[in-house]
Amino acid sequence: MEHSFWHSKWQKNEIGFHEPEGNALLIKYASSLLDVENSHSALKRIFVPLCGKTRDIGWLLSQGCEVVGAELSEVAIIQLFEELGVEPTVTTTSNGKIYAKDGLTIYVGDIFKLTSSDLGDVTGIYDRAALVALPSPLREQYAAHLMTITQCAPQLIISFEYDQNEMAGPPFSVNEKAVDALYSVDYNIQRLERSVLEGGLKGKVDADNLVFALTAK
Ligand SMILES: C[S@@+](CC[C@H](N)C(=O)[O-])C[C@H]1O[C@@H](n2cnc3c(N)ncnc32)[C@H](O)[C@@H]1O
Repeated sequence: MEHSFWHSKWQKNEIGFHEPEGNALLIKYASSLLDVENSHSALKRIFVPLCGKTRDIGWLLSQGCEVVGAELSEVAIIQLFEELGVEPTVTTTSNGKIYAKDGLTIYVGDIFKLTSSDLGDVTGIYDRAALVALPSPLREQYAAHLMTITQCAPQLIISFEYDQNEMAGPPFSVNEKAVDALYSVDYNIQRLERSVLEGGLKGKVDADNLVFALTAK
């Protein structure tokens, strides 16, 4: 997708992907990110790529995590901080802006420009509607980039599977085979859930929710 596609979605407030109540599957499976022993410190630092203004960030903060996000749209991030009721500090860098306050840091710009030194160590990655937001060739670049900048941190992925012939993405259908193709060389992949998406996707097509936990090999 072109960047202009997403900027336009945020400018026109066409954000059907945004869940006002957050995602129940995160709460159900958060232990796969939060109970992992992967650092000397008990502090969990979760990366949320393509974060939009997801309410899940507020939930992760409420669990005592630090959260780092990456998002193209500054409109989204202004709304995120407003809705959290927090006044951020804004820093301008050569690759975009950084909005930060206490345990929350958001890189506003193209995720492909984010480096591992920008990001710092993360103990987990929460991917809800990030992989599925990207068309196939970009998805491969995204997966490779994510592994590079996080050193294959554990992931919780929430995706959709549906008949791609019935609707054009985004969101794109990313099934178990597609997740395997992207990640199985570097990660052990466990499918935690397949369940029917109530009401279908955009009210148009039948779809399943898929949830995966990935841990580095
Ligand atoms: C489908 S939305 C999902 C947002 C969020 N994960 C959620 O669950 O509500 C995808 C988001 O990715 C952002 N995005 C798309 N391409 C991006 C890129 N190259 N770098 C950073 N963010 C990007 C879009 O602006 C959009 O907010």
